[in-house]
Amino acid sequence: MKIGIDKIGFYAPHFFVDMEKLAETRGVDPAKYTIGIGQEKMAVAPITQDAVTLAANAALRIIDEEDLAKIDLVIFGTESGIDNSKSGAVYVHDLLGIQEHARCIELKQACYGATAGIQLAKGHVALNPESRVLVLGSDISRYGIGTAGEVTQGAGAVAMVISAEPRILALENESSYLTADVMDFWRPIYSETAFVDGKYSNEQYISFFVNVWEDFKVKYGATLADFEAICFHLPYTKMGIKALREVLDEGSEADRERLLAHYQTSTVYNKIVGNIYTGSLYLSLLSLLELSDDLKAGDKIGLFSYGSGAVGEFFAATLQDGFKEALAAAEHGKMFAERKEVTVKEYEDIFSHVLPVDGSSIELDVDADPATICIEGMDYNKRIYL
Ligand code: HMG
Repeated sequence: MKIGIDKIGFYAPHFFVDMEKLAETRGVDPAKYTIGIGQEKMAVAPITQDAVTLAANAALRIIDEEDLAKIDLVIFGTESGIDNSKSGAVYVHDLLGIQEHARCIELKQACYGATAGIQLAKGHVALNPESRVLVLGSDISRYGIGTAGEVTQGAGAVAMVISAEPRILALENESSYLTADVMDFWRPIYSETAFVDGKYSNEQYISFFVNVWEDFKVKYGATLADFEAICFHLPYTKMGIKALREVLDEGSEADRERLLAHYQTSTVYNKIVGNIYTGSLYLSLLSLLELSDDLKAGDKIGLFSYGSGAVGEFFAATLQDGFKEALAAAEHGKMFAERKEVTVKEYEDIFSHVLPVDGSSIELDVDADPATICIEGMDYNKRIYL
């Protein structure tokens, strides 16, 4: 039985800031941000959006009546969740109206959370072939105004339905994974912003990729020629290419050309959204699948997931017949086109305008947010969703 991604949807908040303008304001050469880092626009979440609403809005785009009746497991991958106890999955389950006989959990391992979710979903479907599993990767990435990490912030969510006989991508039973306790990036529970050892995090990312790729090759006798494309977790779009270049010499000229061309296509969406942590790898996959015109059923895609701290995984998946029809490229293009640019000052104000943490009540202006699902306000430490 094939198991994999049957549906995939994406949602980004409706504000973005232009990276050249951010660079100018920070007194940095814009080419550092657009070429050195490889980012053009950064999605900015208004106060009416959090990891829960972003995930619910992403899922709304793909869920139908059959899903609502058949989903029996909701896995919410996030590292910017809203509660230390209750899972974001329970809120999304309610906001979407999924049938009640379902398990709902939140998973955390930095940007690796959604990949862990997909692999667990695969096991669940293998035991329960009729089941459909909703896997969410949703985050708002915050390093702080004026920090080195600021240029790698972002916000957005990917929602995927994992099922038997998937229409988009079948997950192969080929995977290599690795864990090591490293302090490259972390966010203590008392902090709204992440701490990072930037250069070290880049080194760890590359070293994890090389390690799992080497292991994958040995385990499965694989070569670069087996892969039509490789998608990467993209904290910023220059990161994946640095890792890919470490292994490109192993391939032929044709392998290099093909993998580099597909890499470029796999970065288009990420360049205009930024780091969405758990969803970043799947946003890159979406970019590749929706924007490439030369992929076909049977092509094998490699996926590299990295979550600081750290866990890395390289796994393989195969494109299915008719996968293009199961995607929503036009809808995503429309969503990007309808976003509104904010000035750097407006972005800073939005960044600093956070929900109360002292139990006081607040009502928010949801009319200012075009999203279907928003935070309407707060009451006695509870978020009220609309
Ligand atoms: P930085 O110190 O601001 O930048 O930090 P830099 O000085 O290293 O420059 C960046 C690149 O721009 C360099 O290119 C420069 O040469 C180039 P490279 O040598 O890397 O190829 N550059 C220019 N290019 C063109 N024109 C110019 C110019 N000037 C310089 N004028 C850093 C950059 C990414 C470290 C920082 O933004 C940061 O700390 N970001 C957050 C951490 C991060 O994203 N790490 C990635 C790996 S870890 C990961 O992926 C996990 C994560 O997603 C979290 C999770 O798992 O939950 C982060």
